[in-house]
Amino acid sequence: MSESIEALFRPRSVAVVGASRQPGKIGYEILANIVRYGFKGKVYPINPRADRILGLRAYPSLSSVKDSVDLVVVSVPAKYTVDVMDEAGEVGAKAAAVIASGFKEVGNVELERELVKRARKHGIRVLGPNIFGVVYTPSRLNASFGPTNVIPGQIAFITQSGALGIALMGMTIVERIGISAIVSIGNKADIDDSDLLQYFVDDPNTKVILIYLEGVEDGKRFVSIAQEVTRKKPIIVIKAGRTEVGAKAVASHTGSLAGNVVIYSTAFKQAGILQARTVEEAFDWARAISYLPEYKGGPLVVVTNGGGAGVLATDTLAESGVRLKAPPKSLVQEVRNFLPSFASLGNPIDVTGMISNEGYVRALVAALKNPDVGAVLGIYCQTAVTDPTVIASMLIKEVKFMGGLPKPLVLTLIGGEECYWAITKLNANGIPAYSMPEKAASVMAAIINYERSRNAVCKRLEELKAIYH
Ligand code: ACO
Repeated sequence: MSESIEALFRPRSVAVVGASRQPGKIGYEILANIVRYGFKGKVYPINPRADRILGLRAYPSLSSVKDSVDLVVVSVPAKYTVDVMDEAGEVGAKAAAVIASGFKEVGNVELERELVKRARKHGIRVLGPNIFGVVYTPSRLNASFGPTNVIPGQIAFITQSGALGIALMGMTIVERIGISAIVSIGNKADIDDSDLLQYFVDDPNTKVILIYLEGVEDGKRFVSIAQEVTRKKPIIVIKAGRTEVGAKAVASHTGSLAGNVVIYSTAFKQAGILQARTVEEAFDWARAISYLPEYKGGPLVVVTNGGGAGVLATDTLAESGVRLKAPPKSLVQEVRNFLPSFASLGNPIDVTGMISNEGYVRALVAALKNPDVGAVLGIYCQTAVTDPTVIASMLIKEVKFMGGLPKPLVLTLIGGEECYWAITKLNANGIPAYSMPEKAASVMAAIINYERSRNAVCKRLEELKAIYH
């Protein structure tokens, strides 16, 4: 594993060059986030005009820090950043996160090249420039000017867009989506998506990698690394610039080439990458994957108390390439014993609108425990004879009793305020739940499609190995 990339996420010490004395300025807010989020290593504010900032001793320059500094966050205007690399070299820095804008994205290609050249001379890897920073929750490191209280979890989020990335950081906090890392990669002058994939594939704190991507420079390398990664953990990509006009917008944003949409989609498929159409979809998928045990194949069973919602879910599954088959006979035999005589025992299993709280949970648990079932999609429509909050509590208790989920389970609870609280409670207990059947079905399809594409990638790589050896 690269020592420099490691320093980005697990530095023993961090310096903020351009740590402003003034709240509201970027350099101040980055330092404040590092302090407030509880980074345990050493922190060095660098500012020639300050003695103390946020209660910490400030240093006039990096070279006046008589200690080694692993990570340097650079928040001074672009024209000063190149010289900062020389000072960073003096204190043994391994990585620099360069916040400043004003490089390739506005035509200053030469300045960007010089920045990387100078950094490389000292063995420093550069994140950025033109970024909002980096977060790694296991180290309690929030070296960004985004929101502070990122929720720890197992999703690594890499974003080429700064403002969108910051906004989504906020969204993850409101939605209680757990994050292992947030990396703003901006112009990708040095460290790029592929370098980060190589890090996160072996990162025990990351279960799924989500990338907001505008374009990649070295597509061949990206695909070949992504192929290796998807064999071990899923990559979800939101590709911006899917349309001709969108591609033009990408060029003026980060200076990237959005490329041909078909080429990108084919490359993603080849590498086993899941491509989400929207940001919401991407985070829905990522959250579920980060909570759930691995899907190991086998039929998906849908359990619903509402026929219509079951049909909508079935449509979404089919549109995503997942076709439902008849449920295992052993499961049909078991649920027949306690379901109403008019229940439909196909797939979806329609437990009917007269089912009780106990009956609905019992049907879900039967499917979860059945060895011939691979995954379960639970659809619930609120009725006057059931209470979704009671269903949520009962299910959480049953799952705890089982020692955790034995296979993927995704739920949708459609209805009023009680459904909202039930969904919140289920998610807080590691059971992914959504408010609409199409959302839950899309999540389940992503889980199944990941397993399929991973198998396809593994098979292809094995075949290639056989040819070349
Ligand atoms: N070493 C250390 N400190 C220095 C140095 C130096 N060589 N030179 C100046 N400083 C101090 C300054 O005195 C100042 O401190 P003060 O406020 O206490 O006086 C502080 O460092 C910052 O320097 P300023 O010149 O005031 O720079 P400013 O904070 O205005 O801007 C910044 C710096 C934020 C890097 C700006 O140039 C920039 O590029 N902004 C855009 C950043 C951005 O948007 N990045 C993309 C993010 S993603 C998105 O789109 C949201």
